[in-house]
Amino acid sequence: MTGWVAIVGLGPGAENLITPEVTQALAEATDIVGYIPYVARIAPRDGLTLHASDNRVELDRSRHALELASLGARVVVVSSGDPGVFAMAAAVLEAVENGAADWRDLDIRVLPGITAMLATAARVGAPLGHDFCAINLSDNLKPWSLIEKRLRLAAEADFAMAFYNPRSKSRPEGFERALMILQEACGDARPVIFGRAISTPEEHISIVPLTDARPEMADMRTMVIVGSSQTRIIKRSGAPLVYTPRSVAP
Ligand SMILES: C[S@@+](CC[C@H](N)C(=O)[O-])C[C@H]1O[C@@H](n2cnc3c(N)ncnc32)[C@H](O)[C@@H]1O
Repeated sequence: MTGWVAIVGLGPGAENLITPEVTQALAEATDIVGYIPYVARIAPRDGLTLHASDNRVELDRSRHALELASLGARVVVVSSGDPGVFAMAAAVLEAVENGAADWRDLDIRVLPGITAMLATAARVGAPLGHDFCAINLSDNLKPWSLIEKRLRLAAEADFAMAFYNPRSKSRPEGFERALMILQEACGDARPVIFGRAISTPEEHISIVPLTDARPEMADMRTMVIVGSSQTRIIKRSGAPLVYTPRSVAP
């Protein structure tokens, strides 16, 4: 049997947001490797072994997937959203670069998924319609000083900003600090979108001016999108629409 590794994105939660290409890889797999809640999204079946592991063991998990594939298994490594966005694709490639020489000859594919940023943006309209950046607000894998620097420079460059991992129970103060920096650097009431558990039964969306944004509006299941100075709200009888125009006047 020829082994392979597919590193796939399961999308933000809803079944119908998983791509057909990922569904096919899951159907062909002998082994699923991933973080516990993502592996829990895969239906068990005969001939499929589920390997669920804890959050902070990405490199061990990657090496395990590569070892299984080198023994002939058809391995799918699962991430939520897109596997290349703050997720397993980079971890597996890091393991390949630093691992056994024959891992480089394996059939390794990255299959994209719908990332939480795009799923959230689509729910409210088109807040990322012009230039934007995405920042992971967790300081588990980088120093907080770098996050602050990137926030200030992104605000100065007038990007719309999408924040992953905004706030966890173990580091509640980081997002509070991030909001203070943005309120100071942006100095206006541009829209901020809090999209929680998008495309799941617990979905909740709120849109507030930056001046009213509060840390407790976000948790680890929330995507936060801060508009640029150009971002606009269309008020109407139903939920408002948010968009960032395609052009900026010279
Ligand atoms: C480690 S990152 C993984 C991102 C994932 N690879 C992606 O492309 O969406 C986890 C963060 O993604 C965001 N996220 C993931 N799923 C979400 C959803 N359904 N709704 C809102 N935010 C979500 C949250 O900010 C969460 O803290």
